[in-house]
Amino acid sequence: MTRIVFNFMGKTALITGASGGIGREVARVFHNAGASLVLMDLHEGPLLELTADLGDAHRVVVAAGDASNPAGIAAALELARTQFGGLDFVIPVAGIYPESPVIDTTDDEWRRVMSVNLDGVFQLLRAAIPVVRQGGAVVNFASVAGHRGSKNHGHYAASKAGVIALTRSLAHEVGPKVRVNAISPGTIETPMVTDLVKARGAEMLAETPLGRHGKPEEVAAVAAFLCSDAASFITGETIHVNGGLFMAG
Ligand SMILES: NC(=O)c1ccc[n+]([C@@H]2O[C@H](COP(=O)([O-])OP(=O)(O)OC[C@H]3O[C@@H](n4cnc5c(N)ncnc54)[C@H](O)[C@@H]3O)[C@@H](O)[C@H]2O)c1
Repeated sequence: MTRIVFNFMGKTALITGASGGIGREVARVFHNAGASLVLMDLHEGPLLELTADLGDAHRVVVAAGDASNPAGIAAALELARTQFGGLDFVIPVAGIYPESPVIDTTDDEWRRVMSVNLDGVFQLLRAAIPVVRQGGAVVNFASVAGHRGSKNHGHYAASKAGVIALTRSLAHEVGPKVRVNAISPGTIETPMVTDLVKARGAEMLAETPLGRHGKPEEVAAVAAFLCSDAASFITGETIHVNGGLFMAG
């Protein structure tokens, strides 16, 4: 893939879900661009492996734990402040995608998806926005499911529709100091969609004008664009990264 050059020297990014397929590529593109990183995910081991892989470890700190837990969020924000002097970019990538038809979904299953995919984003942004510096940016992770629904993933689709509405609402509230946008990926080759691709991959490819699934780095590049000066007049927007699988009206 073409190497796109962004300059985030002197900037700090907080990324949740950083050990995941997309999160680690977001970490990589921001690190390559010179940013310091606060990386959150459930387990410390994979975060430390990623840190070693990125190199320049003095620009990376890890905060293992549940990204929907307010105490963990506060600890990560404190790390941004003490280690790097503040925060510029907030990128909540963490998400879960369990399968369950609506009529079979228990209250606990519904709440768990909402808790990680929507409550966690709200809690992180509520705590982080006051410490984000002038000119900062948020990039939320929605999904094509949040626009058109998703068979057997109603809780997931509803949580992602919530992320889209939260993105627009927050953009109204925090401009011009901070821009707030979202990305809606289509099918991106990560562990999250291994089963989906096995079950319906061929069918989805037939509906995708670009004729393939996406790569995590193709999503990460859009996150970097949205945080960069090249996107200085974009806020409240949701960018589709899906090879044409879904074209929003
Ligand atoms: N891959 C796709 O096709 C696709 C499509 C649409 C949207 N998305 C969205 O993109 C984002 C990244 O997805 P991915 O494909 O990289 O998935 P992934 O499963 O590879 O990574 C998700 C990461 O989030 C972490 N995580 C889950 N719950 C967490 C919690 N409570 N606290 C901290 N970390 C937690 C996981 O440990 C994992 O590392 C998600 O929000 C997902 O909904 C992905």
